[in-house]
Amino acid sequence: MGKVKKAIIPAAGMGTRFLPATKAMPKEMLPIVDRPTIEYVVEEAIESGIEDIIIVTGKGKRAIEDHFDNNFELEENLIKKGKFNLLEKINKSANVEIHYIRQKEAKGLGHAVWCARKFIGNDPFAVLLGDDIVQAEKPCLKQLMEQYDETQSSVIGVQQVPEEETYRYGIIDPKTIEGRRYQVSNFVEKPKQGTAPSNLAIMGRYILTPEIFDFLDKQETGAGGEIQLTDAIQKLNELQKVYAYDFEGKRYDVGEKLGFIRTTVEFALNNEEMGDQVLEMLKEIVLGKEVVKE
Ligand code: G1P
Repeated sequence: MGKVKKAIIPAAGMGTRFLPATKAMPKEMLPIVDRPTIEYVVEEAIESGIEDIIIVTGKGKRAIEDHFDNNFELEENLIKKGKFNLLEKINKSANVEIHYIRQKEAKGLGHAVWCARKFIGNDPFAVLLGDDIVQAEKPCLKQLMEQYDETQSSVIGVQQVPEEETYRYGIIDPKTIEGRRYQVSNFVEKPKQGTAPSNLAIMGRYILTPEIFDFLDKQETGAGGEIQLTDAIQKLNELQKVYAYDFEGKRYDVGEKLGFIRTTVEFALNNEEMGDQVLEMLKEIVLGKEVVKE
């Protein structure tokens, strides 16, 4: 099988955790400092060598298409004003083809990926979920792609999570380990509290072989009444090896409020232009609070 060149980014979810902010705006457009969350994910794909991206959208997601489109008026305006640094910022995703397809019903992640099957055809491909942003020296997806090159098999990115949080994730039951790579006996989506086979959680980065579509074609609903990608991966694992890879890097959970706030604060603190000011501001806020408490 060839190289991984295509990626699917599912972005059809309704963003209920962020209502009312997401009533009229896609959750993928919520900014971390000055860039929408989805841009960090697109950038990871580009830096990993992906050439074509298909974003699976749904109702009310047009802002995503506008974001990655050219905006000539804005560009002209920035050129006139000599704001070339901003011009560069708004054209960051120019060197990748971005395609769109709509998921007509919210039937779950497995179904969203299945919607892109015709675009993928018979090639291995990547999936990146927008709820996870990963900061790593070598992009997370690239680490998985290298594992794919070695094994010619599907590879799923995992990291450890605290025991009490396993119910929120897809969890693997590891069989053997070689370096950071696991052979897996079982993939379980959102195990009930106290039943998780390990604390190694699927972190929204996947390399999959196209045979996954044979299983997604007939996948029944699973956890939460949705068609789950993890369930189809387990079926694939029974047909051909699917590895899990404990990737290097820090993963930020922007899919829930506290994680989103933490990400915003950390990214702002690490921002070259304003990190120092943000630190001062945070100190002021926290110390101010203490004064009020006394
Ligand atoms: C999805 C996947 C789950 C994975 C998680 C990572 O769940 O179904 O296996 O662990 O993303 O963020 P969701 O968070 O969409 O419910």
